[in-house]
Amino acid sequence: MPIRPSTGEATGAEAPAALGAPPLQPGGWFDYRSPAARVLLRPGAIDDLGREVAALGCTRVMVVCGGKTRRSKLFERGHAALGELGVALCDRVVEHSSTELVTEAAAVAARERIDGIVAIGGGSASDTAKGIAILLAEPGPIEACASRFVPPDQFFPTELPNPKIPVIAGPTTASAAEVTPGQGLRDARGRKLLFWDVKLASSLIVLDPQANVEVPVAVMATSAMNGFAHCAEGLYSRLRNPISEALALHGIRLFARALPAMVADPRDVDARAGVLTAAHLSGMVISNSRVGIHHAVCHCLGARGGLSHGVANSIMLPHALAYNLPVAAERLAAMAAAMGVDTRGLGTEQAAEAGIEAVRALQRAAGVPTRLRDAGLDRSLLPAIAEDTFGDRGLFFNPRRTTSVDAIVDLLERAW
Ligand SMILES: [Fe+2]
Repeated sequence: MPIRPSTGEATGAEAPAALGAPPLQPGGWFDYRSPAARVLLRPGAIDDLGREVAALGCTRVMVVCGGKTRRSKLFERGHAALGELGVALCDRVVEHSSTELVTEAAAVAARERIDGIVAIGGGSASDTAKGIAILLAEPGPIEACASRFVPPDQFFPTELPNPKIPVIAGPTTASAAEVTPGQGLRDARGRKLLFWDVKLASSLIVLDPQANVEVPVAVMATSAMNGFAHCAEGLYSRLRNPISEALALHGIRLFARALPAMVADPRDVDARAGVLTAAHLSGMVISNSRVGIHHAVCHCLGARGGLSHGVANSIMLPHALAYNLPVAAERLAAMAAAMGVDTRGLGTEQAAEAGIEAVRALQRAAGVPTRLRDAGLDRSLLPAIAEDTFGDRGLFFNPRRTTSVDAIVDLLERAW
């Protein structure tokens, strides 16, 4: 069954004319779900990984990570803490992962009779772990488990009903992938397939701000812009609700304070803790309100253009916010206030614009890339990336309806 937009009229001053799409939960009613079961944040938490995983009842786990993480101290500590629980290792995760890797790793996991998956690393490690959990439970192939979006407004989620083994995460970035029931995998044709199952949200998340000091600040900064984008997009999503809104506003407050502090002093453990906490909040936001056109574009810049998700997010965010401004000025004005912008005396639209300007200032303070041309993207790919984006489910949850590929090409050209 597709989820169709409500036929109710768009309400409020924020959704004028035909540009806006109506909320998916009209009338102020909502359905909110808490994602991760347990979250630990403390210096040295990574050294307790084995004890905490055993407390979940897991006896044979597969550890999932990428090559760089494999060589890190954080990994060494986490892996050592797991001891004999760690019976299998998949250390070939690359950015955006792949359906092929997940299929191979799931075969090993089945052979080893694993009963838990521990992802150590960034979003791609978590996404790989979730993909393995899907294949251990569902008939497969993995491609058949992906959701489908038919532009401009039909979304077909694929039900993944079978129970899943626990996924545990020791995140090293601010992507918040470990928090959400959703994930993306690149398929053999370079498209990003998207999946959704509430049973895939991590059972346990171990955040260690002290161990995180080892993670390069550039990686944390670009992934924090991704986390910030979750909060901003969650604020204006068609699936937003009062709980996700509260989480998003506090996430924005924390990112605005902790991200520049972390970049100014990469050894500041409190700033790292602030960014990791804000990232977690951002994951709680999108687990409920989902993401919009900004993320749709970033998925495709990653899968087809080869950009890291964090870099794509860092560049695209102010452009995507400006795209949505005609229908989401009130929401963006709230974002501005949460960022500490003095909006007194400003009209709603002016306050929203000041918020977008503050996001540009945050880009500068974070030292992240701001133009697609600087990120090594081949400009001739823009039309194909726009075409891919037109089929991404993010457009379904976006407050402004997108009815042509040209509008996305224009958005990409602005960011070029
Ligand atoms: Fe994201």
